[in-house]
Amino acid sequence: MKVTPITPDLGAEISDIDLSQSLSPDLFQALQTAFNRHHVLVFRDQALTRDQHKDFARQFGPIHIHPSKKQLSTKDDPEIFLIDIKPDAKQSNGETWHADITCEEIPPYASMLYLTQLPENGGGDTLFANMQAAYAELSSDLQVYLRTKRALHDGEIDLARYGIRLKGNQTYPANSHPVVIAHPKTGMPTLYVNEGFTSHLLGVPRFESDLILSGLFNRLETNPRHQCRIRWTPNMMTLWDNYSVQHQAIFDYAGFARYGERITIAATTPPQAFTRTSMDQA
Ligand code: SIN
Repeated sequence: MKVTPITPDLGAEISDIDLSQSLSPDLFQALQTAFNRHHVLVFRDQALTRDQHKDFARQFGPIHIHPSKKQLSTKDDPEIFLIDIKPDAKQSNGETWHADITCEEIPPYASMLYLTQLPENGGGDTLFANMQAAYAELSSDLQVYLRTKRALHDGEIDLARYGIRLKGNQTYPANSHPVVIAHPKTGMPTLYVNEGFTSHLLGVPRFESDLILSGLFNRLETNPRHQCRIRWTPNMMTLWDNYSVQHQAIFDYAGFARYGERITIAATTPPQAFTRTSMDQA
C-alpha cells in the first residue's frame, strides 16, 4: 500500500491496494493509521460489487442506517445511501458544508462513497475541510469559550433544503453535542459544528450564537489552507472521517448525471467533549 498526501493537512491517495479483497490485520492497521493522519482517503480504479463495498465498510465497524430509511420509510437497501443525480436535477446532495447526519445522538464515524458515473462536463468534485486544523488556529481564549458550549444539531434544517417536510407522525433526529469534541480514535480536539445541521449554541443569546456560528462557518468556507478538493475518476472510492472533517459536494454539472453509493460506518458512543486528558485516554 502506498500513501501519497494530497495536501500537508488533509487527504491522501492510497494506491497498490485492492478493496475487493479482505485486508490482512497488518494492512488494515496501516490503513487505519493513514486514516487517522490524513482524514480523507482516495482509492482510484476499484472494481467493487455492492457486497464487496459493504465488506470493506464492515472492517471499520457496523454499517450505519440513515435516519431517512428508519423514519421516512423508503423501500431501498437501508445500508446504501444513493447519490443518484439525474441530468434534469436542480441540486445535489450535500451542497452545504456538513459532516454526515450530525443530528443523530450517535452520528456516524466515517463514510465511504463509491462513484461509478461522473458528469461528462468534468464537474462534481467534492471539497473537504479539516476541523482539527480549524480548531487549532483559533485563539486560546476562543478555544476555551467554545469548549464550554454545546450546540443543537437539527435534521429538519437539512430536510428543508430538499423541500421535505415531516408529515403528522414522522419524526427526525435533533440532538445536542459538545462544540469541541475529542476525536474518538486519537483524542484530538475537533470543532464539531457545521452549517448543514447545527442550529444554535445552547445557553447563549441567539444573536451571539448566530455571530459565533456564522463567523466559524465563514472562516471554514473561505480558508483553503485547511481544505482539499477531490477530483473523482470512475470507480473511485473516497473514505472520510465525519469526526474530523466536513465536506461539500459541488453541483456544477447541471444537465449531466452523477451516480454512486455511499456506505456509512456507525460510531459506538455519542461525541465526547474534549478535555485536557482526552488525548491520553484515546
Ligand atoms: C455527501 O455525502 O454529502 C455527498 C458527497 C458527494 O456527493 O460528493
